[in-house]
Amino acid sequence: MPAARRVALLGAKGGCGTTTLAVNLAAALAGDKTVCAIDLDAGKGDLAGLLDITPGTTVPDLLGTEFDAALLRGGAAHHRGGFSVLAQPQDLSRLARPLPSEARYLLDVASEAWASVIVDLGSRIDEAVLSVLTHVDQVVIVAMPDVLSIRDVVRIRLLLDRIGVQPANQRYVLNRVPRHPAVPLAEIEALLRWPPLATICEDPDTCLAALAGGQLLRERAPNAAITDDVERLSHAILGETPPPRSWWPTWLGGAT
Ligand SMILES: Nc1ncnc2c1ncn2[C@@H]1O[C@H](COP(=O)(O)OP(=O)(O)OP(=O)(O)O)[C@@H](O)[C@H]1O
Ligand SMILES: [Mg+2]
Repeated sequence: MPAARRVALLGAKGGCGTTTLAVNLAAALAGDKTVCAIDLDAGKGDLAGLLDITPGTTVPDLLGTEFDAALLRGGAAHHRGGFSVLAQPQDLSRLARPLPSEARYLLDVASEAWASVIVDLGSRIDEAVLSVLTHVDQVVIVAMPDVLSIRDVVRIRLLLDRIGVQPANQRYVLNRVPRHPAVPLAEIEALLRWPPLATICEDPDTCLAALAGGQLLRERAPNAAITDDVERLSHAILGETPPPRSWWPTWLGGAT
């Protein structure tokens, strides 16, 4: 079994910010260790579009072929943020859904090529997605603090239990959390009897500006609360205690 850290992000529903978190998490994890973000949202993956990069080798290019770690590394696009990308093609007529065995093979070879692999699964569940969910170290459900999302977190959690994903490897993140959520976070946590791995604030202005410029959040707004939240998510993924919030007023002392 390869030593790479494999994290799959699955949207509780469409538009929860799964792709946004996948690319910004890949950037936050990139440093001493190599990272690849893989777009396995075969519905219409837009990871490359979000980063405004030209995909090199795309996921459909690889399906049905044999490849090794060197070929994968050489073919992947490289982002200036220090991580690699295996994207879906821009041309939607070239989209192809991997077979479960192809998805697992891709993940295995990617795990030899990079130290961390972040997979954007989108929010649609099919056979290939199921095979990935049981083939990673952590499954992170990306949800928003609304009733439908939370219901889907419950449904996905039941599914993960059923297909044999260990409870310790199941996580969820609350994204797009407004200052005053319609459903208070404490209520969500009590309802699920499960604390989120991290919460990411709602910041449409920074997200839109980053999107328009094909930028990462840390490039667009290095000091924004949302950038800090993603940084904290990356620490949580690594099982580390996040550093104190960078925007916390110093006169309040060392609170986090
Ligand atoms: N924390 C946030 N605050 C404000 N806007 C956000 C946040 N996270 C994501 N968004 C915005 O929400 C929209 C959807 O984001 P994204 O494409 O990442 O979601 P997704 O779950 O991958 O969607 P899809 O289901 O289409 O794959 C984008 O416009 C993005 O900029
Ligand atoms: Mg997406």
